[in-house]
Amino acid sequence: MRTVYRLKPSQGQIRVARWREHRYIPKMVLPTYKLTRFKNKIIAIDGPAGSGKSTTAKILAAKLGYRYLDTGAMYRALTWLALKNNVAPSDASKLKVLAEAIDIQFVTKEDANRVYINGEEITEEIRSPKVTQHVSEVSAHPGVRKVMVHQQQEMGKKGGVVAEGRDTTTVVFPEAHAKLYLDASVTTRAERRLVDLARMGISTTLEELVADIERRDKYDSERKHSPLRRAHDAYVVNTTNCTIEEQVDRILTILKTTFQ
Ligand code: DC
Repeated sequence: MRTVYRLKPSQGQIRVARWREHRYIPKMVLPTYKLTRFKNKIIAIDGPAGSGKSTTAKILAAKLGYRYLDTGAMYRALTWLALKNNVAPSDASKLKVLAEAIDIQFVTKEDANRVYINGEEITEEIRSPKVTQHVSEVSAHPGVRKVMVHQQQEMGKKGGVVAEGRDTTTVVFPEAHAKLYLDASVTTRAERRLVDLARMGISTTLEELVADIERRDKYDSERKHSPLRRAHDAYVVNTTNCTIEEQVDRILTILKTTFQ
């Protein structure tokens, strides 16, 4: 697997980023931080679907000049490839072979995180309802997880990374320097997903999304291998009534305390 990260932090300073990508954040300049306390840390963010993990991780990574490791996107990319090649989401051995051969690249372009698989851009395709419907099953196979977790550990081992996904605090980086568990009510999570999908031109209903999130929560927390759970030493941040700015501010306060 080859990973390309274009957002490189400048020496000793956290990058000042313009973040226009996400709906919550209008055009604005993020503040500059000194890096010393934050140098080469691994920050892991866990939590259920729609809890704000991705948005938070992207903004934190940009603020800190870290790389953003979106582990869910890796399972989604594999699911997309499997569907494209008519590999059933239940076929553990073929999926493992695909996972071993997959070449996923993350490229930060114009402050947005783009996903490529074997050279082809699939940033939006991996968010389609079809991929979303099958990704839980694909990601539940232990053989698939073993390959993916190893790749994620390789990508993050040098630090300077915000790793996001539902086992990053427990399995991928149990020794992370800071662990965060984000949570929010099911309705809030479904509303956020609805807005995200609408931005991509995908139409669905709130009821469908609530049902989908409940189904995925149940599946992800009850599955045998790497179920969704809170690490005992993770900070729990409930984001139900938070704007993204408030959420990121709360997390930065936690990180400043943790790294002092
Ligand atoms: O965060 P997300 O919705 O993009 O994740 C897609 C799916 O991938 C989710 O249903 C569970 C799975 N996943 C996982 O099993 N382990 C991870 N570290 C990240 C995601």
